[in-house]
Amino acid sequence: MLKVINVVGARPNFMKVAPIVEAMRRRASAFAPLIVHTGQHYDEQMSDAFFRDLGLPRPDVYLGVGSGTHAAQTAAVMQAFEPVVLRERPDWVVVVGDVNSTLACALVCAKLLIPVAHVEAGLRSRDRTMPEEINRLLTDRIADLLLTPSHDADENLAREGIPPERIKLVGNVMIDSLFAQLKRAETSTVRETLGVTGEDYAVVTLHRPSNVDERDTFSGILFALERLCERIKIIFPAHPRTQKAIEAFGFYERIARAENLHLIEPLGYLDFLRLYSGARLVLTDSGGIQEETTALYIPCLTLRENTERPITVSMGTNKIVGTDADVIVSAALEVLDTPREKFSSRVPPLWDGHTADRILDAIQGMRDEG
Ligand code: UD1
Repeated sequence: MLKVINVVGARPNFMKVAPIVEAMRRRASAFAPLIVHTGQHYDEQMSDAFFRDLGLPRPDVYLGVGSGTHAAQTAAVMQAFEPVVLRERPDWVVVVGDVNSTLACALVCAKLLIPVAHVEAGLRSRDRTMPEEINRLLTDRIADLLLTPSHDADENLAREGIPPERIKLVGNVMIDSLFAQLKRAETSTVRETLGVTGEDYAVVTLHRPSNVDERDTFSGILFALERLCERIKIIFPAHPRTQKAIEAFGFYERIARAENLHLIEPLGYLDFLRLYSGARLVLTDSGGIQEETTALYIPCLTLRENTERPITVSMGTNKIVGTDADVIVSAALEVLDTPREKFSSRVPPLWDGHTADRILDAIQGMRDEG
């Protein structure tokens, strides 16, 4: 029996951990899962709603760390997580993604010689101004088992000199959640509530510090949205960081003046899935949404200069457009002028809804080898 601590911290973690815990519960004779929530995200809409929507069991331990500078947040997670690991003495700790909680918990375990599995290993934007890139590089350096979503990730790790026996291609676990919840999401009435029942709308999400903390960049993106909403209705669920920036830069009035641009609160998993799965176009700076749109053949424009998920461009519906307003608008109009069915593309290998089982097989395989 393997005792495994599964770490969640921020919004993009919940949909990755839910299928893993669910698979562990199915293999109850082999796995005893615990969930530790660091509390990096703590709002109802950023956290609790996801536990409900994904059927994720309540956390066994809640660290309640909250917000702070990167150093303060990372350190606070480490200090709070270390006693939990010392008390529980797990056989494995599973960390996912690239948020501050991912690195903090991996680092605690590396020092305590507790094996760590990193899910979504090997992704690289090659942009070290992104805090997530630092988290990715360091987590992969110290984790014992690197579970990758795609071949490009394997290649990145090999290039960094990571021994091949630590790397295992398992596919994309977010897509497990996506496929598992697609049917349930049909019960969401979010489209009706927002008045977008046809394929006549776009969805935008923004939260990267490089986009929303810089006034000029955010203003340029907003200018693009103001122009685009003359052609198509845009729904914009805003992350707390983004809402704070809108307030600080005095952008609320601009948004209110743009008749077809609708700023709303962040949505839960099922409502958001229901919303974007019916959209004609998604514009985003999120990592996960680039993957989810590829899996559902929804055209996606990524408002960044790079992506750590190039497979969504080479094999999916994603296009990297940066943050220049003219470029965004012309790329968006091109999508809107292209027939919808042209975007049915291939989905990357192993993005098939069975990644969680391969993750468990890999962890069990390490025990057999060890
Ligand atoms: C974090 C992750 C990012 C992920 C994103 C998704 C890191 C470095 N970044 O960025 O990779 O894509 O989550 O959401 O870990 N806040 C609230 N309520 C909350 C959570 C945050 O109001 O529940 C506020 C915080 O006070 C802070 C801001 O939002 O002012 C940013 O939160 P933080 O956790 O620092 O980073 P994110 O931008 O959410």
